[in-house]
This record gives sequence, structure tokens and C-alpha cells, in this order.
Amino acid sequence: MVTQQSVGSSAFYPAIAGGLPRIERAEGVYLYGPNGERYLDAAGGVGCVTSIGHAVPEVVEAMVEQARKVAFVPFVQYQTAPTLELCDLIASWTPGRLKKVMLVSGGSEVTEAAVRLARQHWVERGESGRFKVITRWQGFHGMTLGASGFGGHTGRRRKFAPMFVDHPHIPPAYRYRCQYCSEQAACTLQCADALERSIKWEGPENVAAFIAEPVVGATMGAVPAPPGYFERIREICDRWNILWIADEVMTGFGRTGRNFGVEHWGVVPDILTAAKGVSGGYSPLAVLVAGEHVIEPFERNGSNFVAGHTYAGNPLSSAVGLAVLRYIEQHRLIENGRRMGEALLARLEALRCSPIVGDVRGLGLMLGLELVRDRATRQPFPIDARAAHVLTEEARRVGLAIYPGQGGADGLEGDHVMITPPLTITDEHVDEIADGLARALTAAETRLL
Ligand SMILES: Cc1ncc(COP(=O)(O)O)c(C=O)c1O
Repeated sequence: MVTQQSVGSSAFYPAIAGGLPRIERAEGVYLYGPNGERYLDAAGGVGCVTSIGHAVPEVVEAMVEQARKVAFVPFVQYQTAPTLELCDLIASWTPGRLKKVMLVSGGSEVTEAAVRLARQHWVERGESGRFKVITRWQGFHGMTLGASGFGGHTGRRRKFAPMFVDHPHIPPAYRYRCQYCSEQAACTLQCADALERSIKWEGPENVAAFIAEPVVGATMGAVPAPPGYFERIREICDRWNILWIADEVMTGFGRTGRNFGVEHWGVVPDILTAAKGVSGGYSPLAVLVAGEHVIEPFERNGSNFVAGHTYAGNPLSSAVGLAVLRYIEQHRLIENGRRMGEALLARLEALRCSPIVGDVRGLGLMLGLELVRDRATRQPFPIDARAAHVLTEEARRVGLAIYPGQGGADGLEGDHVMITPPLTITDEHVDEIADGLARALTAAETRLL
């Protein structure tokens, strides 16, 4: 029998030591604990999920209404109205020739789907030698064994590395610590040129795709690629006939102040993946969007795309996605996120006066602080100091939820926190976040220095 004392003792969390705070309910931009705790959700769930805030009645009603009609049928056998409507709505948001939409259940699943699509595209074209996916160190594309092989975060990879099909990695686009140009006045884009070198090393006839996040999230802490980077990537991919996959699991659906992150560079990838913000966390949902030219060989050959997980394209999640995107449109939240992002970034810039803040960066409402032990040398804290977690604990003490990460500097060292509140925040919330962070930093400094 489960007694009151033992409730939850069977639960197995990744945080093996336990001790996670409990949340009882959430509303708008706030999370509430059982003993009156209140946290402003500036973590966006886990980085960028809660796009429209919590407990929005329109979304809850859409879920209930859809559950009453039909909650589940397999998308490999049936079509439903919300799934078809959501695909059309998404296609009206995506740039250029990205008009073929498939719905799946999560970020790792959509990475797998994107890579399978790229690989099968080449098989359908009779170029079955192409299988390598060039990726970047310190990037992240998911936790499945396949997606981990395309990721570049050493700390998350090393215990499983023998199990991956490994893929070529190039350096990240990381101005603050760039191995090519961090000491120079302007970015030289050599980090983008590294793609061309890698294609030549691997042999273009073996390369299927290049995958990258427009703004690196969980593993580096909101680091946007420099101006000109993705234009150069597009040129290289075109020159060598390589598919470019933009991983917009975090950046998609307004997070960076545009519909999609790539729009900041004005170029269009061949395949785009997105997830978190599309359902706002109300239901598992992710989106695979392909250019018509990517799908064309399948149509020509009459070949099915060999993919599909049980919960992909389910009507309940589709109804949620529709309600969330309509809410964003009706309330002009992308514009609001852009304005609030600019205001919040300006306030965060002032935190550079803290002796442990090395860098402040981001786009829209995807913002990050990098923590360092020594600002002059940019020396990171030792891993065991858990600097990002210390700051996150102190932020929680002042009623602020933020998202910590480690390994941004070199895959192991380097601490950052991300600040990714819902797109619905107001000027008052901007002040609350910036003031709370300033207080949390002061407390963290005394623990860390
Ligand atoms: C850029 C990126 N890709 C993929 C993923 C994996 O998504 P999921 O956790 O839903 O599997 C994440 C998760 O944070 C991500 O940030």
C-alpha cells in the first residue's frame, strides 16, 4: 500500500539525488508551489516551451473539445481535421519553399525524422552513398542515441559515445570563445568555412546533410550565429549539393522575435525542425518541415517516407498546436516577444558589471548569461563549482525560474543560464526578471568567489 510518507518514492528522475521543488499549478507566467511559493517562469519550462504562458483557457477548451471528438488515431492510417489544418497553418508561417509539413511528438524524434528524410532523399535520387550528417561541437539535437550522435555536447555524449554512429563535427559559431576570431575586431566567418573543409575531407558523395541550431540553446546558452553565417552556410550547401537542416526546436514559432530563427539571416534551409513553442507545453508536439524539392524524389518514385512513431500527428496534440498558434497570431505575440526581448536584453546588459558575468547574448526572448571565474581571461568556473546551478538556486530563492547549463565553453566546462520567459510578458515582468537576476547574482557571487 502507498502510504502518505512514501508517496512519490518510486518515481525515478534523471536528477538522482532528488530534492526537486514541487509545482502544484501554473497560471500565466507564474508557477506555484504547495506552500505558497511563486516563481516567474523565465525558464520557459525547459528553454522555450511555454510560449504563451500557462493555463490559457482557449487551449484548455480546444483540448477538451478535441478529446471529446477523437483523441487518437494513428497518422499512418487516418487523417484528421486538426492535423491537416495545423499543417496548413504552419506552412503559412514557414519561409520560402518550406511547405511540406509532418507532425511528430518531440524534439529528438523530429531530429531523427529530419535526418531520415535527408538520407532517404538521397537514396530516392540514386545517391545511396550519402549518409554523413555534418554537425557542430557544443550543439544539441536531442537525447536519443541517433540524435546524440549528431549532437556536440561532450558531457551529454561521452558515457554513450561507443553506441553512436558518429558524424563529423565542425567548431561552433561562438564569438565569445571563437578559436578563429574571438581576439579580432570582427568575425571572419571561418567557422562557417569549416563546413566546406569538412565536406571535402569527408567526400561530398558521402555527405547527406548539415545540421545546426540558428541560436544554440541548451548546450551553450542562447548563442546566435554571427551575421553572415547562415548565408555562407547556404552558399556552401548549394555549391556541394548538401541538404541544410535548421534545428529550430527551441528557436521556432516566435522565440527569437521572428516566426523562425533563420529569418534573421534571410536564408531558407532545405529542412526545418521545430517543437517546444508550437504546443506551448500543453501537449507533446514537434514539426518537420521540408522544402518541396526534398519531397519531390519520393513523389517521383512513389516511395513512402520510412518513418512514424505511435503518437506522431495525433489529433489531440494537433488541436493544441492550432489553438496555440492562433493565440500567438490573435495577440500579436511575436511582435510582443521581439519588443520585450529588446527591453530585457538591455536590462541584462547592465548585469555585465557582475564579476561573474562574462557574456550577455541572445535574440528575442531567447537570452543567456555566461558565467566565468575571471572576466579578463574568460576562464570558466571548475565543473564541480556548478556555477549555473548555484545561480539557478539563488534565482529560485527570489521567485525566478531560469534554465541552467554546463559545457558551453568546450563541451565540459563553461556555465550559462538561459532566460526564456513566455512571449506574453509585459514591461513589469521584464523588471521583475532583471531585478530578480541582479539579486540572485549578488548571492551567487558570495558563494562562488
Ligand atoms: C535544439 C534542440 N533540438 C532537439 C532537442 C530535443 O528535444 P526533446 O527534448 O523534445 O527530445 C532540444 C531539446 O532541448 C533542443 O533544444
